[in-house]
Amino acid sequence: MTFDLDIKSTVRTIRDYPKKGILFRDITTLLADARAFRRAVDELVHPWAGSKVDKVAGIEARGFILGGAVAHQLSAGFVPIRKKGKLPHTTVRIAYSLEYGIDEMEMHADAVQPGERVILVDDLIATGGTAEGAVKLLRQIGANVVAACFIVDLPDLGGAAKLRAMNVPVRTLMAFE
Ligand code: PRP
Ligand code: HPA
Repeated sequence: MTFDLDIKSTVRTIRDYPKKGILFRDITTLLADARAFRRAVDELVHPWAGSKVDKVAGIEARGFILGGAVAHQLSAGFVPIRKKGKLPHTTVRIAYSLEYGIDEMEMHADAVQPGERVILVDDLIATGGTAEGAVKLLRQIGANVVAACFIVDLPDLGGAAKLRAMNVPVRTLMAFE
């Protein structure tokens, strides 16, 4: 479900970044606004307040900022999903598609125990390639992915629908067409 909150006005839009024709939704202005940041984290965790969540998995880089706050709020552990080559211990790795090309992401193989309840967090979902890769990686090591949460949805790019088709409940706080 998508809610349009007053925090939407704190997201800055930058024209022609990173390339001409793109309207880039910049959440750094939301993060810098104390009330908006708190509200966004509170709204993201709301459905799971008081329920058992073992781990929050955050996607590099902006998903780390939100994921840490969400994990703290839910008294859950935090697990980083990183671009390849950054994690020091044994990892599982998966290739994922970006708007132009592919990359690889990794997580520590022992970061989640089989059956643990995990919430995936990132700042924004666009094509869903990144989040889809993260869900596959989490499931590969036996995680029960109970939800994926994002501040911003770009519904025209179909990412949230892609995750729902994988049986992952998706929570987003605002949409930009
Ligand atoms: C952005 C964003 C998401 C991803 C969404 O990250 O933070 O992780 O793109 O795009 P998708 O739904 O089309 O996969 P980016 O790859 O720019 O990495 P960064 O956070 O390290 O800048
Ligand atoms: N903002 C931030 N990250 C993104 C965007 C955007 O508009 N599109 C794809 N990744």
